[in-house]
Amino acid sequence: MSSEVPERSHGSFESFKFSIFPIEKTTDFLKTVLKVALLVCAITSISLFLYSAFTSQTRWFRCPECSAPTRNTGQLCESRNVSADNIGPTNISHIIFGIGGSMKTWKNRRRYSEIWWQPNVTRGFVWLDEKPATNSSWPENSPPYRVSEDWTRFKYSSSRSAVRMARIVLESFRLGLPDVRWFVMGDDDTVFFTENFVSVLAKYDHRQMYYIGGNSESVEQDEMHSYGMAFGGGGIAISYSLAVELVNILDGCLDRYYKFYGSDQRIAACVSEIGVSLTTERGFHQMDIREDPYGLLAAHPVAPLVSLHHLDAVKPLFPNQNQIDSLRYLIQAYQVDPARTMQQSFCYHPKQNWSVSISWGYTAQLYPWLLTAKELETPLQTFRTWRSWKDGPFTFNTRRMSADPCEQPVVYFLDRVEEVGEGETLSSYKRYVFEPEKKCERAEYASAMAVQKIIVSAFKMHPNEWKKEPRRDCCEISKSLKKGTMHVRIRHCKRSETITTPT
Ligand SMILES: *[C@@H]1O[C@H](CO)[C@@H](O)[C@H](O)[C@H]1NC(C)=O
Ligand SMILES: *[C@@H]1O[C@H](CO)[C@@H](O)[C@H](O)[C@H]1NC(C)=O
Ligand SMILES: *[C@@H]1O[C@H](CO)[C@@H](O)[C@H](O)[C@H]1NC(C)=O
Ligand SMILES: *[C@@H]1O[C@H](CO)[C@@H](O)[C@H](O)[C@H]1NC(C)=O
Ligand SMILES: *[C@@H]1O[C@H](CO)[C@@H](O)[C@H](O)[C@H]1NC(C)=O
Repeated sequence: MSSEVPERSHGSFESFKFSIFPIEKTTDFLKTVLKVALLVCAITSISLFLYSAFTSQTRWFRCPECSAPTRNTGQLCESRNVSADNIGPTNISHIIFGIGGSMKTWKNRRRYSEIWWQPNVTRGFVWLDEKPATNSSWPENSPPYRVSEDWTRFKYSSSRSAVRMARIVLESFRLGLPDVRWFVMGDDDTVFFTENFVSVLAKYDHRQMYYIGGNSESVEQDEMHSYGMAFGGGGIAISYSLAVELVNILDGCLDRYYKFYGSDQRIAACVSEIGVSLTTERGFHQMDIREDPYGLLAAHPVAPLVSLHHLDAVKPLFPNQNQIDSLRYLIQAYQVDPARTMQQSFCYHPKQNWSVSISWGYTAQLYPWLLTAKELETPLQTFRTWRSWKDGPFTFNTRRMSADPCEQPVVYFLDRVEEVGEGETLSSYKRYVFEPEKKCERAEYASAMAVQKIIVSAFKMHPNEWKKEPRRDCCEISKSLKKGTMHVRIRHCKRSETITTPT
């Protein structure tokens, strides 16, 4: 195109210029008009030719599996009775969980599933690679199992089980269970906070095609796999409508992406063939980090806590407890107020120049100096990247954890939590002494260290609050410090209130 047109246009342009300005002979002028008209005709026909060539090309590229146009989705769903009308709010019974397990690992990993699985409440299965021995009984508190079928015939390069995991959504779908709105996939070492999962999914219409999850905390992982994929350990939620389409193409699609490493990457690739992109929710935690997850969970984003993963790879959530006991502890708080679990609030002491940060149900921090909101909401970097064990980068900002004890906060961990009165809670956090203890000798630090306990009162957070645009709750610290106890009240922010303009 560029080789022909310029010559012609150059010629006409020249004559155009020469004849328009010194308009001397009308014949010359008419000639020019004709030339211009010819040029316009030429350009138009070239564009038309190109347009038709490209539009038909898209049809040639289409793969055979994709022949069913997406417009059919609506009809498909209706015929399968996805309760087109009379849809009530989404609840736990509308979700089918599919846990990727194997006989080899289940003995050890089942403790993670059993901690969140509620028999006769949560629906779904752990999918195994082989049948358990007939003489052993399946653990009572484990999710019921199914044995994956038909997965060894697919191509793979690094991990055959990735094919099996990727097909869990298909096998779950083909069970044809009634009243399903969402299919959720997770690993056998994923802990789901199901009440919050329901709050998140209830925001979305399962009759549309949704692919929901979160990506990795470590940039190196997102670069290697994809920023646009829901990492499987954090959990993948697929709406019924999307599952209808995905199941149609999945088997053919798996062979196209046999070179990929994980099942989650295969799912992402197949979903992208449908043309659906990832909806990110910040409460899904793949936990692609090493060492101590403390900093991350002490400054959780303002989003419901949906999942935690890779807990075998990081330090226990609470010091001096193993990982499972830590989780049981956290779940005690979660059961009192699921929506508020790990929600951060922070405020300043009215007399002392202190900053206090609470991660409800988990930890509190007291800084004997003033930090800005921007600093307080930025996680302290107590962890490293997943693959290279480096200091970053992560997909969020972090604050350096200083080795100088005078630059570290005084740290408190959850001690007790109880419900008091009508929808109110009291939770207490006890000062934790790190071993070996490094003390800051400065006077203001000593008076902060004298605070042994922080008692937090809060109202229970209604799950519906997650349907609104989320805002961090405000808090206030009572002036008096009796017997080394500080009282903090978490409440909704008042009109025009910010952390620097307390009312
Ligand atoms: C769908 O539900 C309606 C009413 O609940 C029922 O009459 C109809 O037979 C159902 N269709 C299918 C395909 O199950
Ligand atoms: C969930 O909602 C359905 C209606 O869609 C209702 O029949 C069912 O009882 C509810 N289940 C729970 C556990 O709330
Ligand atoms: C679950 O339901 C089954 C059948 O209805 C019942 O036999 C079993 O006891 C129930 N289990 C629990 C833990 O409620
Ligand atoms: C079950 O049977 C297998 C051999 O068939 C045996 O190795 C295993 O120890 C048995 N397990 C139990 C719990 O009896
Ligand atoms: C708090 O900081 C302000 C300004 O830096 C200072 O004037 C005040 O004396 C400090 N108060 C205390 C109790 O340290």
